[in-house]
Amino acid sequence: MNFLELKPMTNSLLAFSLLGMGIINALFILFVIGQITPSKYPKFFQWAHRITGYIFLALYLFICIVMFKKLEGFNVLPPKAVIHAYIGIAIFPLIIVKICIVRLYKKFYKSLPIYGMFVLIAVYLPVPLYAGLYIISAIRGQQIAVSEKGRLVWVNVNSGRRVVQQKCSTCHSLERVYAYVKTEAGWRDYVARMRAKDPAIMGDQEALEALGYLIKSLGIDDTKMDIQVGMRIILEKCHKCHSIERVFTSRKTPAEWAKTVELMRSFDPLLLNDSEARQVNYYLGKVLAGQDTGLNELKTY
Ligand code: HEC
Ligand code: HEC
Repeated sequence: MNFLELKPMTNSLLAFSLLGMGIINALFILFVIGQITPSKYPKFFQWAHRITGYIFLALYLFICIVMFKKLEGFNVLPPKAVIHAYIGIAIFPLIIVKICIVRLYKKFYKSLPIYGMFVLIAVYLPVPLYAGLYIISAIRGQQIAVSEKGRLVWVNVNSGRRVVQQKCSTCHSLERVYAYVKTEAGWRDYVARMRAKDPAIMGDQEALEALGYLIKSLGIDDTKMDIQVGMRIILEKCHKCHSIERVFTSRKTPAEWAKTVELMRSFDPLLLNDSEARQVNYYLGKVLAGQDTGLNELKTY
């Protein structure tokens, strides 16, 4: 069911389409009720309202399927996602109540515009949390917010890339940098350590830009499990005590892999932090836990 794992941009556009469809749908019925101008064609607008209503419902159900699919990717939902999900789910009973009134309980007909408004507001509420923020950040382009002494600073990722390419290659090759994926804290630590070796190499602003770039392109995003990230961490860290084949030739269930990873972490407490361990477990559980697929998947990288 991979076709349901849509890009954030597609999801955002779907969300805005739903909102747009809701607004158009409301406008049609306003024409009928005569709030805007007494309509000469009430039948037409009534039908338009009904048809856009069903398109709205279909679109809503489709988005629900996509979103539930997304939920499976989370172990723990961030609070923002919980609010988003609950409001999103609440739209469903609101729509049902509204259809019931139209079809079965005509006595409440007069309150329909109020219900309609509730549905519209409920559709609007979850949108800014994700789709809105996503569109804004897409417009902001290659910007990333990095916290610096307690406040958020927006830095340009492209300038960050230039800093890394020019300054981080003065003492060692860039491959040393690009071989790693790290959490934000990990990169922060590295940039600070590297600057301590030669404080004149870059200024505060440059260091912040470099950090932004490293987090964006070589960072671990705790809200997104990614097999590529998990695999890079394994290639980077799991060959220090035994050959890397030891990992890729083992066949284990996800639970056994989790146990093995905890065992390895007990051998060396600094081996993986919790974020890295999550990504490693995700990779192992997803790719190496399959019966025969493991080696095939490996070849494709
Ligand atoms: C002043 C020289 C110098 C500069 C500039 C420098 N590094 Fe380093 N870097 C080192 C040295 C020396 C080591 C090895 C010792 C260590 O790990 O502390 C190292 C190690 C590393 C490692 C670990 C590599 C490994 O294989 O263990 C990473 C990752 C890294 N640097 C990233 C960076 C980044 C990112 C920058 C730019 C922000 C940078 N370095 C700039 C001197 C430098
Ligand atoms: C600090 C050293 C060290 C590091 C680093 C390390 N291992 Fe191990 N690993 C061991 C030792 C020691 C054994 C043998 C333990 C045993 O046989 O009971 C082992 C055995 C294994 C085995 C075979 C044993 C089994 O239960 O099937 C697997 C698989 C494995 N390691 C995976 C990994 C992975 C994945 C990583 C990276 C996250 C890793 N190791 C990193 C020390 C390490």
